Amino acid sequence: MKKILFCCFFTSTMLTTGISYAQTKPVVISDAKIKALIKKMTLEEKIAMLHANSKFSSPGVQRLGIPKLMSDDGPLGVREEVRDDWSPAELTTDSATFFPNGSAIAATWNPVLANSFGIALGEETRARHKDVMLAPGINITRTPLNGRTYEYYSEDPYLNAQVVVAEVKGIQTQGVAACVKHYAANNQETDRRKVNSVVDERTMQEIYLPAFKAAITKGNAWVIMTAYNKFRGVYCAENEYLLNNLLRKQWGFKGVVMSDWGGTHSSVNSAKNGLDIEMGTDKPYDQYYYAKPLLDSVKMGFVSEQLIDEKVYHILWLMYHTSMNAGKPAGSINTPAHSKTAYDVASEAIVLLKNEKHLLPLNISAIKSIAVIGDNATQVFHKGGIGAGVKARYEVTNLQGLKNKFGSKVDIQFAQGYRPDFKQTYTDEKKQEANKPNAELIAQAVALAKTKDVAIVFIGGNRDYESEGHDRTTLALPFGEQQLVDAVSAVNANTIVVMVGGAPYDLNTIKKNNHTIVWQWYNGAEEGNALADVLSGKVNPSGKMPFTFPARLEDSPAHALHTFPYDNNLTADYKEGLLVGYRWFDTKKTEPLYPFGYGLSYTNYDYSNAATNKASYKQGDKIMLTVTLKNNGKYSGKEIVQLYVSKPNSKVTRPEKELKGFAKIWVEAGRQAKVTIPVSVADLAFFNDKTMKWEVEKGEYKLLVAASSKDVKQTKLITIY
Ligand code: BGC
Repeated sequence: MKKILFCCFFTSTMLTTGISYAQTKPVVISDAKIKALIKKMTLEEKIAMLHANSKFSSPGVQRLGIPKLMSDDGPLGVREEVRDDWSPAELTTDSATFFPNGSAIAATWNPVLANSFGIALGEETRARHKDVMLAPGINITRTPLNGRTYEYYSEDPYLNAQVVVAEVKGIQTQGVAACVKHYAANNQETDRRKVNSVVDERTMQEIYLPAFKAAITKGNAWVIMTAYNKFRGVYCAENEYLLNNLLRKQWGFKGVVMSDWGGTHSSVNSAKNGLDIEMGTDKPYDQYYYAKPLLDSVKMGFVSEQLIDEKVYHILWLMYHTSMNAGKPAGSINTPAHSKTAYDVASEAIVLLKNEKHLLPLNISAIKSIAVIGDNATQVFHKGGIGAGVKARYEVTNLQGLKNKFGSKVDIQFAQGYRPDFKQTYTDEKKQEANKPNAELIAQAVALAKTKDVAIVFIGGNRDYESEGHDRTTLALPFGEQQLVDAVSAVNANTIVVMVGGAPYDLNTIKKNNHTIVWQWYNGAEEGNALADVLSGKVNPSGKMPFTFPARLEDSPAHALHTFPYDNNLTADYKEGLLVGYRWFDTKKTEPLYPFGYGLSYTNYDYSNAATNKASYKQGDKIMLTVTLKNNGKYSGKEIVQLYVSKPNSKVTRPEKELKGFAKIWVEAGRQAKVTIPVSVADLAFFNDKTMKWEVEKGEYKLLVAASSKDVKQTKLITIY
């Protein structure tokens, strides 16, 4: 019999940048051993393994030494223990490191960091004796209003795929399964348990599936979570196309298909169409579809015992990678190394949106006093709203970070400026009331700002305002924040606006009127320290936006076409097709407020000498694009070089351009670097929905080397023959 081997660390996975990161070496699982174990189980024991027996576990078989399968939520860290009614268990042992949110990780455009983040998250999950980390969430930003945009990565399938593979590999080095979610076409919270997402095949293949496919086929994720919504009329948890056809047959998935909590709607259909474990929330566990009703269905011959055995096989296969893997690491939690990872991600995620007056980096020797204004300076973001909460061991707020950095030399004083007040359960009237400016708090803020050399105003959302369970109804800044910014900016010429959020907002007025704008995320335990280091110039900002900011909500595709949230039949018809995010804005020639991939630095980069290793390529080739990047300023820094591809005169409709590669490169001030970005010719393919095959069109392609989706610096033509 083969031995089960488990080793963490290192094999090399080449990224676009040519860098390698840590991943688990393949675990050798004994097929015979799993089958022998299943033979010893009664039908009742097998069925028990297929449904939850607590909020975050499903049973094992004690007499056979099979442990419970323990899961826990991410993606911002390992959530605290709950009681069976979702209230916190209030233990003293379940605090964890709060890591930056999903769109922050994507904003780093740095898969190596995503991999380190995955390792740290995996270590914390393992230390808490959990086997499945319910993360990452990788749904596409179809609408900027989606309440979970902050949990997810980006609007681009290529960027999502690069990040997810790195993160999944990182998590799984610890003998912890990554559970990628929510599969599939789960792009809104409004009526998420009922809405029917209707998406054409080409759009699925080119936009909504690539990151899931990459997570399975390249990241080797061991668990996937089905989405709440219906897809083409059938719930995702019983969707033959998604589960049996794509996932198992086409992608070769060997792991466990887990339902979202309360997202199962049948016994027989779910069993036949690919669901392995039913997880849930409210009803008694013995009433689950996958409890007695499934047992009865087997006894009555509607579901074969062989099918049940297959599901148990998947679970045991997963367990041999995780809980039943004798060689799994012990994990660690709340370590200085994890704080460092949280800091590294946070500091590379922050995006400089505007620095017209060159107020940043702060010339701190010339500054005696700073007014720190706005509730988001002292607000914590590890909790709030529904889901993805972490009981953080600590969180350095933005104000604390500034005090840590400058407090000994500079007089720093705080004024709240606005009072956030939002609950999903509030009436519309109450929500509107809470958005009115608070004259008293604004007056205090103005009085403080007048007396200080610099004013830093923290505005934006928070974890109640952006949350699972609801979508925002508007992009407008909440809680009277615009009025606060206007009032402070009017009295202090050195006002810096720091916007805290995980999704696009309406920054039109601020972009027009303010000279200095910084984007801060729900940026983890070290957010304040990371921000202070960016403002001081210790860190040169290098984050770039993972989604398009529309100038107006109605410019955004799903809103322009009135397909959000759905039509009269609860159908969300994805009429924009492939034209999601920048693909829409570019193709329709609509000017965004901030484009996908946008972000400034304290330095300037010159792009020159774009070249390819050949002029023409055939199927199976790899295009090697090189470009020279010169750092023209005084500050060393990291630039994200983006490679978009455009196909002129295509025989099929295509977006104006699509991201096909990127590299994040460190360049010393005054120096230059040669950047290489490889692109496989196969990646230029479109999905032909007539032949149901990927097809690379022959002819001319434009390779666009860019600093953002709107800022093309160099163009190179190639031919595919
Ligand atoms: C969410 C999942 C989450 C699960 C367990 C669901 O409501 O959609 O993302 O993992 O709850 O908390």
